Amino acid sequence: MPHVVTQPCCADASCVLACPVNCIHPAPGEPGFGTAEMVFIDPAECVDCGACITACPVGAIKPDDKLELSERRFIDLNAGYFVANPHPDRTPLALVEPHSPEPLRLRVAVVGAGPAGLYAADELLKHPGVTVDVYDRLLTPHGLVRAGVAPDHQHTKLIQNLFRSIEEENGFSYRLGVEVGRDITHVELTAAYHAVVYAVGAATDRALGIPGDDLDGSVSATEFVAWYNGHPDQGGRTFDLSHERAVVIGNGNVALDVARILAQDVSHLEKTDISDAALVALREEKITEVVVLGRRGPAEAAFTLPELIGLASVDDIDVVVEGPPVEVTSDKTALLAELQSRPRRPGARRIVFRFHSGPTEIVGDEAGRVVRLETASGPIDTQLVIRAIGYRAHPVADLPFDDERAVIPNEAGRVAPGTYVTGWIKRGPNGFIGTNKTDSEETVASLIADAGAGLLPEPTSQPTAPGSLDRDAWLRIDAAERAAGATSGRPRVKFLETEALRAAGQPSTRVARRRIRPTDVRNSH
Ligand SMILES: Cc1cc2nc3c(=O)[nH]c(=O)nc-3n(C[C@H](O)[C@H](O)[C@H](O)COP(=O)(O)OP(=O)(O)OC[C@H]3O[C@@H](n4cnc5c(N)ncnc54)[C@H](O)[C@@H]3O)c2cc1C
Ligand SMILES: NC(=O)c1ccc[n+]([C@@H]2O[C@H](COP(=O)([O-])OP(=O)(O)OC[C@H]3O[C@@H](n4cnc5c(N)ncnc54)[C@H](OP(=O)(O)O)[C@@H]3O)[C@@H](O)[C@H]2O)c1
Ligand code: SF4
Ligand code: SF4
Repeated sequence: MPHVVTQPCCADASCVLACPVNCIHPAPGEPGFGTAEMVFIDPAECVDCGACITACPVGAIKPDDKLELSERRFIDLNAGYFVANPHPDRTPLALVEPHSPEPLRLRVAVVGAGPAGLYAADELLKHPGVTVDVYDRLLTPHGLVRAGVAPDHQHTKLIQNLFRSIEEENGFSYRLGVEVGRDITHVELTAAYHAVVYAVGAATDRALGIPGDDLDGSVSATEFVAWYNGHPDQGGRTFDLSHERAVVIGNGNVALDVARILAQDVSHLEKTDISDAALVALREEKITEVVVLGRRGPAEAAFTLPELIGLASVDDIDVVVEGPPVEVTSDKTALLAELQSRPRRPGARRIVFRFHSGPTEIVGDEAGRVVRLETASGPIDTQLVIRAIGYRAHPVADLPFDDERAVIPNEAGRVAPGTYVTGWIKRGPNGFIGTNKTDSEETVASLIADAGAGLLPEPTSQPTAPGSLDRDAWLRIDAAERAAGATSGRPRVKFLETEALRAAGQPSTRVARRRIRPTDVRNSH
């Protein structure tokens, strides 16, 4: 009964360290770690101790006799990795970096409380004498785990339990609701800390650069995802879901998320932390077909196999693959070919993959509303075009910026001694949640090396962040959101408005909850 890694795996390698027989790979330091879509358990070596199940923050590991039917494909996927990558001479794990014997007495600011920022804080706090203040422009932390990961992927959001344990470490503090570049400058931060680590992610989207991109009904996945996940930047936003067909441009995992959210029955979302506004809109939507456009072929699709397996198992969606028979060159194209041969069910909602269909023009009516998309494979009538063609970072005031790659130029995370980067602002908008852990380890290693070399001058001022929310305030908000969700069987109901969040963050939670419930929970039933 070997254990099996399944879809929610975000490649953070927590299980690798827990396994007593080193049978989970690729492990940190091995070829493929950091780019692999997930990790795999060697069925020939696993001794079924279950230690990895406890270690996994997202519940991705199961004994093979506990798999759902739709998950059984992962048995072959795990075993297949070891056929392709036998690694007969795997070295034993030696993952714990030697830490400085003497306390370092460093005060570090981390800007951005997403996965990269929190992994950086965790890594820094392994060094005695280091304290970390984590800033975020929002009043809530966890970056794209809260505001990007799809609400029907609640298993993945369990990574927040790991973030909670980082937040509880000695020396950790939050300064939430402080935007660096607006409320405090880089210069002020560098004066108040020995070092500043930027983990600000990639908040905006790439442009299509075709005529009609700016018409009413042409939107970015960045906005749409933020809306259904209750990001305050999209509060009050509406999307027209009253037509039968939507088009999603792009073949990445975000495109799959958006297509799945639009196509599946809303009952799958009722018990999630989706925003109330999106739940109401999706209950009333008329969309029955979502066309997912790839500018290249099936073999080049950027979405990952675990995500395609997950999509193929959503029981109320027909996944249709148009075009000539898919040439099977990988497990992913094999599944696409299998989907191509599945019978369609009359009346079922559809996600239609159309490859070799780069968009050329979005056409509007006299009122400036989208009516058609022209593509390399012909026109598609639609009133909603969502581009899911990748995220893009903003420059950070007073820091250099590589406009072409949309990253802050760095060497192993070092911008200059005292200033560092990690996550999407460091390497670009790619990789899984766990990828940011390895990335942050590299950055912190650079920072600690600079400290050891005496390159980090003593701070000349005390950090100040008036009006910011601290860790206890976040814990109260978290508890209040969960309590609001519990009344309707949901993991949480997100509070979107500043006033509601600040009220929930106040020490008197009984008063705070009474004040926020009428406005925030009203639409959830
Ligand atoms: C839609 C979507 C779904 C995803 N789903 C998954 C998934 O299911 N599984 C998976 O493994 N990976 C998933 N990913 C990838 C994963 O979310 C990213 O790898 C990860 O979030 C990147 O981490 P980050 O910390 O660099 O950026 P972010 O998560 O974006 O965090 C950046 C933080 O910085 C803050 N910030 C920005 N500017 C400032 C400023 N000036 N001052 C203060 N704070 C600031 C932001 O508010 C934010 O909290 C998904 C990505 C997207 C876009
Ligand atoms: N569940 C998960 O694990 C999960 C969920 C969501 C996101 N993520 C991760 O988050 C990262 C970002 O995901 P993403 O989907 O935003 O980006 P992505 O993986 O880079 O995919 C972008 C897609 O857009 C296409 N594209 C780019 N420019 C285009 C254009 N002008 N016209 C048409 N198509 C265009 C790309 O095609 P080309 O290949 O032809 O350039 C590609 O298919 C990825 O690493 C992803 O794996 C993970
Ligand atoms: S069950 Fe035990 S032996 Fe098997 S992969 Fe998990 S930790 Fe390793
Ligand atoms: S999410 Fe992390 S702990 Fe869980 S299976 Fe994947 S690598 Fe292992």
